[in-house]
Amino acid sequence: MPTDYWTEVEDDRSISREVHCRNGTVIGMVSWATKVEWGTAWLEGAPVPDLDEITVQPDMTAVEIEGSVFEEKWQEAKAAMLSSPFTIAIDGPAGAGKGTLARRLADHYRLNLLDTGLTYRAVAYALIQHALPLDNVSAAETAARQVDLAKLDRTVLSAHAVGEAASKVAVFPTVRRILVEKQRAFATTPPGAVLDGRDIGTVVCPDADIKLYVTASAEVRARRRLAEIESIGGTADFTEILADIVRRDERDMGRADSPLKPAADAHLLDTSEMAIEAAFLAARAVIDDVLAKRNKA
Ligand code: DC
Repeated sequence: MPTDYWTEVEDDRSISREVHCRNGTVIGMVSWATKVEWGTAWLEGAPVPDLDEITVQPDMTAVEIEGSVFEEKWQEAKAAMLSSPFTIAIDGPAGAGKGTLARRLADHYRLNLLDTGLTYRAVAYALIQHALPLDNVSAAETAARQVDLAKLDRTVLSAHAVGEAASKVAVFPTVRRILVEKQRAFATTPPGAVLDGRDIGTVVCPDADIKLYVTASAEVRARRRLAEIESIGGTADFTEILADIVRRDERDMGRADSPLKPAADAHLLDTSEMAIEAAFLAARAVIDDVLAKRNKA
C-alpha cells in the first residue's frame, strides 16, 4: 500500500497546489512560491521532512484529509500566500535566454508572468502603425497610456523591426514612467510574478525577492538568433545579426534613464556555455535557497 505520495488540489481560483502525504497524513503543502508547509510534523514542533524525499507514486489518487484540520490550515496557508506577493526580477540583454527562463520559473512557482519588453514593443508598434516617427514623444506617451498588459500580442510584437524600434522609444523617461507604473501594479498582484526586462531589479521592482541577471556573450546570442531564424526556414547573415545585437546592447546599456545593468544584489547567470535546462536548475537552486530562508524566518 502506498504510504508516501502527493496529489494536487485546487483553490477557489482553480490554481493547483501540491499536497504531500506520508502514512496517510498530510505532512506538507507547497504553494506556488511561498512554499508554506504544514502538517502534523510541523504542528508537533518537529521539522517538516524534506519534500524531495517523498516518493511520487505512479498511481496518484485524491488525498483524503481530515476535513477540519485541512480547512483550517488551508485557509491559513492561503492567507499567508495572498498577503505576500512574491517577485522574481530577471534582467539581461536581448537574446540571453531570459524570456524562456522566466516562463519556466513562472510555471514552476505558479506565478504570473510579464515580459516587459512587450510593453515597449507595443508602444513602438503603435507608432509604426500610425506611420509616426519614433521620436514623437507625445504620441509615444499616448500609446504607452493605452498599453493593456492583458492584450499584448506576442505574434505581432515579436518582429525584429519592432524590437529595434522598441529600443528607441524606451529612451524616453516619460514613456518609461507610464509603463513602469503598470508593470509595478502587475508585480504586486497576488500571488506575485516573474518579470523580465532591462530594469526590473534596478527600477521596477527594487525590492524583488529574487533578482537574476541573465547574460551571454554577444557571439553566442547571435548564433542562437541565427539558429532560431534557420529553424523556421529563414536565412540571415551572422555578421549582420551580431552587429544588430551589439548596437542594441549599446543603446540599452548606454541610455541615461534606467540603463541595462545588474542590480547590486542580483545573482549573475551566464548562459554562454549553458543550455536552458541548466540555467533553469541554477536559477531554481538560488530561488529555493531564498525561499527556505524566508520560510524559516
Ligand atoms: O526584451 P525585448 O527585446 O522584447 O525588448 C525590446 C526593447 O525594449 C529593448 O531593446 C529595450 C526595451 N526594454 C526596456 O527598455 N526596458 C525593459 N524593462 C524591457 C525592454
